Amino acid sequence: MNLDHLLLLLSLILLTCTQSDASIPSKQDGFWYENRPAKPDSILIEGFFDPVCPDTRDAWQPLKQAIHHYGSRVSLVVHPFSLPYHDNAFISSRALHVINNLNASATYDLLESFFEHQESFYNAATLNKSRASVIDQIVTFTAKTTGNSDLSDVRAGFSDSKTDQATRVSFKYGCLRGVYGTPYFFLNGFPLPDAGSPISYDGWRHFIDPLVDEQTMKAEEIPHLMR
Ligand SMILES: *[C@@H]1O[C@H](CO)[C@@H](O)[C@H](O)[C@H]1NC(C)=O
Ligand SMILES: *[C@@H]1O[C@H](CO)[C@@H](O)[C@H](O)[C@H]1NC(C)=O
Repeated sequence: MNLDHLLLLLSLILLTCTQSDASIPSKQDGFWYENRPAKPDSILIEGFFDPVCPDTRDAWQPLKQAIHHYGSRVSLVVHPFSLPYHDNAFISSRALHVINNLNASATYDLLESFFEHQESFYNAATLNKSRASVIDQIVTFTAKTTGNSDLSDVRAGFSDSKTDQATRVSFKYGCLRGVYGTPYFFLNGFPLPDAGSPISYDGWRHFIDPLVDEQTMKAEEIPHLMR
């Protein structure tokens, strides 16, 4: 084989690998808090959350409080990110996708339930259980939490390969953004420091207050310009 042929072969191999990796999903990943997607002038918080991660749990209340403080100026999208050293992270992230398909409004109810009852899904707590029985436990938990969803619908959601695919996409999306721990936050697309640690309410105010001031000032400038 001469060099030209070798190069051609190499580029074919590279092309094939790249294509199979970059299977682009048909819609953007993530769950919008309160069904409130970001507008062009929103302050956007992107959170990468592992539902069975204690630091993610501890990050949630102060973040929620901050979002309620700023109201419609801030939008939050949460991406499930399954840390490989949390045995049940992928299954619980998948449960979020399952419920999001059944009733999108219940997604955050389920996320909060995971935070509240996280201990039942830690590695040590499920060490002696088969994977099948943990899935069963999570199916029952999911249906119970989101009262209106039928157990059989949730079970069917877990058998649907599309929800497996969606959970993989969430994970891959985090990898593409350079996420390596949870919780991991981006504010208007820029990563916040102390990845993997919760941010306090005061911390959020410290990050967001200056951005809100800037926006308010911009809005006030317009009438002056028109005069
Ligand atoms: C969807 O979930 C929301 C929030 O939990 C609940 O209020 C609503 O009744 C649910 N809708 C259906 C059709 O089950
Ligand atoms: C798991 O099984 C081992 C051995 O039987 C036992 O010592 C341990 O307490 C069990 N752990 C749990 C969480 O049930």
